[in-house]
Amino acid sequence: MKTTLTAVRVDLGAVGGHLQPSEQLVSAVRASVEEKTDSFLIDCWVNFTGDDITILCTHENGLDSPKIRDVLWDAFEKGASTASELGLYGVGQDIRDAGMTGAIKGLGPALAEMIVEERPNEAFLIFSIDKALPGAFNLPFYLAFADPMHCPGLILSPRMRQGFRLVIMDVLYKEYDREIELNAPEDIYNMAALLRDQNRYAIRRIESRSTGEQAVASSTARMSNIAGKIIGKDDPVAIVRIQDAFPSAGEVVAPFQIGPYVGGFMRGCHHGPLMPVPLNTKVSFFDGPPIVSCAAFGLREGRLTPPVDVFEHPLWDHVRARLAEKTVEIRRQGFFGNAMQPFETIHYGGLINILRDLDERFEIRHPPD
Ligand code: 13P
Ligand code: 13P
Ligand code: MG
Ligand code: MG
Repeated sequence: MKTTLTAVRVDLGAVGGHLQPSEQLVSAVRASVEEKTDSFLIDCWVNFTGDDITILCTHENGLDSPKIRDVLWDAFEKGASTASELGLYGVGQDIRDAGMTGAIKGLGPALAEMIVEERPNEAFLIFSIDKALPGAFNLPFYLAFADPMHCPGLILSPRMRQGFRLVIMDVLYKEYDREIELNAPEDIYNMAALLRDQNRYAIRRIESRSTGEQAVASSTARMSNIAGKIIGKDDPVAIVRIQDAFPSAGEVVAPFQIGPYVGGFMRGCHHGPLMPVPLNTKVSFFDGPPIVSCAAFGLREGRLTPPVDVFEHPLWDHVRARLAEKTVEIRRQGFFGNAMQPFETIHYGGLINILRDLDERFEIRHPPD
């Protein structure tokens, strides 16, 4: 059976600024989507990570379906009006600028979609990130799909030995979608050269070179498409198929223990380590740190198993304790150096105004004769 997986991540408002959506808001969105499982959808699942709600839908309507778009927009609108009634902060944050045109792709909400020819024991993961950009997936996904130090399946499984194809997008290219396909293992240096720059390049999809099947779909999209700002589309979602010709669940999630510094912390202008957290975790310290949750699912004829909460395991408590120290450590240096993002990626007018005002007060001193 061919099943479409549509995962969307949307910020419709939160309590405490950008900390967490309220229970009533999540329930309103869930009720709206669940209502459609009798008609347009086969199954669905709704939860939150930080201040963003993740909606996963299974259906048979294919990619970019207008029917599914309507289902989701209905849920977004109901959620936004619930957020407004409750007095939440940033009501309809991700749909406000998008207007009610019904478009999803390329606007505020983050969308990852793939059509799956269901294997007899289909298995996949949903990753949701808050307070970071799509490029935050670059390092863990590269390590899971291209590095045998992290993914032993690349040398143990004959099919995985043929490697994976990564489609990487130049998210700052304004006019069109600009992408490059690179093959692991022969292109791994080229991959590293691009993926090191999380603000400009982000993995959009990954395919198995042995079966041609798609392994990863991420909500990576052009920045300029969204709100006319350099940092427009944050807080991504990704679908990752696992097992058989793909890395195992453990091989995909293990690289997340690194907790690399990513951009998007506090006002989208700071760097913080990406901390793996259980499902339905809020942010707190300095509106962060950046967090990632992971839900594992089985799938049969479009029906989802209840999810397994991957980062809820006790080992991740140890990782979190280390990453909490890493978070506090970089915060000690406040605005200085690498704690804050480079000027080019900061979209707050305040800093730009300060620099413009000060520019007039600079004086050119002539060197002594
Ligand atoms: P399968 O061979 O069943 O996919 O399992 C491999 C695995 O997950 C080892 O960690
Ligand atoms: P979100 O992008 O998660 O809404 O966070 C906004 C912010 O700047 C928090 O500091
Ligand atoms: Mg928000
Ligand atoms: Mg968010």
